[in-house]
Amino acid sequence: AIATREALPEGVRPDTFKRHLDACTRCPIGCRATQGVPGEGPMTAPVMIVGEQPGDAEDLAGRPFVGPAGQLFDRCAQAAALPREKTYVTNAVKHFKFTPRGKRRIHQRPDAGEVEICSWWLDLERQWVKPRLILAMGATAALALTGSARDITRRQSTLEATRDGTALLLTTHPSYLLRLPEGAARQDATARFIADLAEAARICT
Ligand code: URA
Repeated sequence: AIATREALPEGVRPDTFKRHLDACTRCPIGCRATQGVPGEGPMTAPVMIVGEQPGDAEDLAGRPFVGPAGQLFDRCAQAAALPREKTYVTNAVKHFKFTPRGKRRIHQRPDAGEVEICSWWLDLERQWVKPRLILAMGATAALALTGSARDITRRQSTLEATRDGTALLLTTHPSYLLRLPEGAARQDATARFIADLAEAARICT
């Protein structure tokens, strides 16, 4: 349930973004996480990459895709000749949602209401960057950008559009690849993910 719906802050700029995110309590996730995790990359990036939400490592570092999923993403991006530093990398939801279990913090998927509330920040980033292509990694990013929760596996590698008409390439989330047992299925899924990243790379170069 959404605890608070505060008025949206005015005058958020790229240089004040992190401060505003840190102060955001518009949904319960923001109240519990360590800090907000803004997107990262040039404001002129032709490609924007959108994940789900910061994980444990990102919540501590304050940077997107630096933990295990981020490291896999980096390896796949390299294989696809997609230079991460030329892209703008962000998440649909800007705070880490988890349940504590002992000393561990177990990832929880943000619900549709939280995704909707947080899309205000993503929309701002999209206005700043104005990417030619957005790569949506996983169901949460797809939901945030299209409003549709239709099965992501059926939509992978297809082009859709955001509600305001930006080209959107859908792909899987690297965490999904990490959860697959090692073997042929994981290899195939990884190859397909790399092919999607290569498609995005064609726009970057
Ligand atoms: N998973 C995501 O979706 N985003 C991150 O930043 C890290 C892991």
